[in-house]
Amino acid sequence: MAFSLFSSGPPSVRERCRDDAATKLRLRYAPYYLPMDAQTGNKVRRDGREMIMLASNDYLGLTFHPKVVEAARAAVLKWGTSPTGARSSNGSRAYHVELEEKLAAFLGREACHVHAAGYLSCLSSVAAFAQKGDVVFADKNIHSCLWDGLRLSNAEVERFSHNNPDDFRAIAAHLATTPAASAPKLLVLEGVYSMEGHIARLPEIMAVAREHKCFTVLDDAHGFGVLGKGGRGTVNHFGLDADVDLVCGSLSKSLASTGGFVAGDRELIEYMRTNGKQTIFSAALSPGQAAAASAALDVLQSEPQHFDRLWANTKKYTAMLKSLGFDLWGSETPAVPIVLGSKEKVYWFWQALQEKGVFTVMSISPAVPIGKDLIRTAISALHTDEDLERIAEAMAYARKKI
Ligand SMILES: Cc1ncc(COP(=O)(O)O)c(C=O)c1O
Repeated sequence: MAFSLFSSGPPSVRERCRDDAATKLRLRYAPYYLPMDAQTGNKVRRDGREMIMLASNDYLGLTFHPKVVEAARAAVLKWGTSPTGARSSNGSRAYHVELEEKLAAFLGREACHVHAAGYLSCLSSVAAFAQKGDVVFADKNIHSCLWDGLRLSNAEVERFSHNNPDDFRAIAAHLATTPAASAPKLLVLEGVYSMEGHIARLPEIMAVAREHKCFTVLDDAHGFGVLGKGGRGTVNHFGLDADVDLVCGSLSKSLASTGGFVAGDRELIEYMRTNGKQTIFSAALSPGQAAAASAALDVLQSEPQHFDRLWANTKKYTAMLKSLGFDLWGSETPAVPIVLGSKEKVYWFWQALQEKGVFTVMSISPAVPIGKDLIRTAISALHTDEDLERIAEAMAYARKKI
């Protein structure tokens, strides 16, 4: 804790905010929270310039799909703009139940619950189930919402190195020799890691989880719509539905909306509805968002061309980046990092891409491990061959600049 020079006690909250180095930097120059003035499909406009969006999670490119837009419009006209309350009290609507049933059927699960944010869904999938006295094995690189869920649970957390079943096995084996051996155990991981683009090594990891009887929670925010039969996600991709107890995720990626879901056995979902504070006390998903996600799920199933195009683009895009000699951190999915290794390089590379009309996101330590500072890019089904050519030119230009 930093103490101020002239006062006796710790800094006040206001002093802490004023003295925060990252906030000072942000006030001087702000490469995050950049507002776009307009958007059509994967083209955004900022300061009068059109740019290709190369960092969106709209993997299937459905946010402007006519059926999705029309469904959202019709839902707002029918239900108003908000349910203005929690599901547990005044906020439950027929459209929630409809979306939950559709998602559960798609994922081959008995039941599902939708929240107003993916962050809430994933946090609740951990916080509602883990508790003090439990041991949770967690991949070191899980999303912040899962860490927050773990903190709230007060369970003991054992981190294993990223996507490393051998490390998980060693840690679990050691724990089995301690008094914590008899504690209830959980495993928390992601299906696709959004920063790295890695697919979880699920068969090997689940073999360890089975040995140690772990209740498994898998966040598939970036696997849903991207992996598995028709986009059914990472668990389906590996045929391991029976092993994973809960799948949670977001409606803000492939489902072209905002919100989140948790899917599993009925008794688990009802347990969360009865015991999960975030589920009980937070306002329900709004009608427009639910309708957009529901329509996007229909489109995902009736128009497989978006899924096919996403993967064709992913292959072309990663081949192009590799031919330019970039380090892609072994990405296997449409989420493709370009690892540059220092904050300065990342900044100048990002600037050069902006100059050439390509919008990406900087991700620097501590958000990524030291030395892994990177540009986060994500390709989508909407990128055309012409976009890919423009992106390739911009990448070559940016590489030269740094
Ligand atoms: C892995 C993962 N889980 C959960 C979330 C939270 O989802 P949302 O942004 O819809 O709240 C995100 C969002 O970035 C994510 O990447």
